[in-house]
Amino acid sequence: MSEPMSPALASANHSSIGARRIIAVGGGKGGVGKSVLSANIAVAFAERGQQVVLIDADLGMANAHTLFSIERPGKGLGAVLDKEVANVSETRVATGVPNLTLIPGTSASPGTANINHGQKQKLLRQIRNIDADLVVIDCGAGAAYNTLDFYALADSRLVVVTPQITSIQNAYGFLKGAVHRVLIQCAGSPARKKHVTEELSKARGVAHLPDVVARIAKTDPELAAAMHSQLQYFGARVVGNYIYEPKEEIIVQTMGRLCRDFLGIRATTLGTIPASKHMHASVNARVPLLNRHGSEPLAVMVRQVAALLANEDVQHVREGRITLPKIREPQAATLGPTRPVVH
Ligand SMILES: Nc1ncnc2c1ncn2[C@@H]1O[C@H](COP(=O)(O)OP(=O)(O)O)[C@@H](O)[C@H]1O
Ligand SMILES: [Mg+2]
Repeated sequence: MSEPMSPALASANHSSIGARRIIAVGGGKGGVGKSVLSANIAVAFAERGQQVVLIDADLGMANAHTLFSIERPGKGLGAVLDKEVANVSETRVATGVPNLTLIPGTSASPGTANINHGQKQKLLRQIRNIDADLVVIDCGAGAAYNTLDFYALADSRLVVVTPQITSIQNAYGFLKGAVHRVLIQCAGSPARKKHVTEELSKARGVAHLPDVVARIAKTDPELAAAMHSQLQYFGARVVGNYIYEPKEEIIVQTMGRLCRDFLGIRATTLGTIPASKHMHASVNARVPLLNRHGSEPLAVMVRQVAALLANEDVQHVREGRITLPKIREPQAATLGPTRPVVH
């Protein structure tokens, strides 16, 4: 007879009936190519036969629908937040690309970008439960908590950078914010969250996160183990975009070094996408690059990025990330790993 399932594992299994994989695309800076890359990576997975849902989570400046020539996207995330639609899945619209639907980010009413905690939790749960092989979330610009929480939800986290110091700075700030958010969330109980928050703010000048984990290990080894697992399985993947010359790839590589040295996470570079007039043209034609210029070198490179992502072991990441219970229960805290829970 099999062992009874821990509550943690039971919840992990329950959520696996929803999205089999979530990839979030962030980067902090506006205009670096998050939306065009989200859209085209979604197309690349759809071409591979997967059922894909692209979510435009840029609530303030939604425009993913335009990339697919959808003039009136109808009810999107905004309608869910305005309670016009009960479940986010109901807002899926066809994109014209086989296997790919879009959840538009249209704001139904002014101020939709400012959602409250309860609304956000509900939305994040619904996104996790979308029935699809893959959900791609275009997180939008900035590093506001709402944006970071969409990012925190994902199994794989892409960070888009251009080879410019300002882009690297913003992307690093974005990832740092996301790592902090994930470390606080994994702590589970309010007391432990407070502990992590205090230690992170004390360490502001030091900035080497593994040192913070080591300090917490002295008083709360369980919490430190959960934090360590979140750093180990954070799943950041860098995509360099707007590359004019090969030597610029070196600038993109600095992201990986910064992340390793200061945040204690691995952020490998998945690929670098050249600057190309074809990307521009596809945006203006409102047809995804892969559908319009599918054999151009940059389209081939986008597909390569998708192929590398497709080969990753998502289950390993999901099982590796430990989230502690919301209420502190010493026995329950030692139960097996689970998927991240957003509080
Ligand atoms: N590799 C590229 N080559 C040329 N133009 C690009 C490339 N990537 C993005 N762009 C251009 O940059 C613009 C902004 O991209 P977008 O994806 O909207 O940025 P973000 O979502 O990060 O704000 C696009 O409209 C597109 O014309
Ligand atoms: Mg965008």
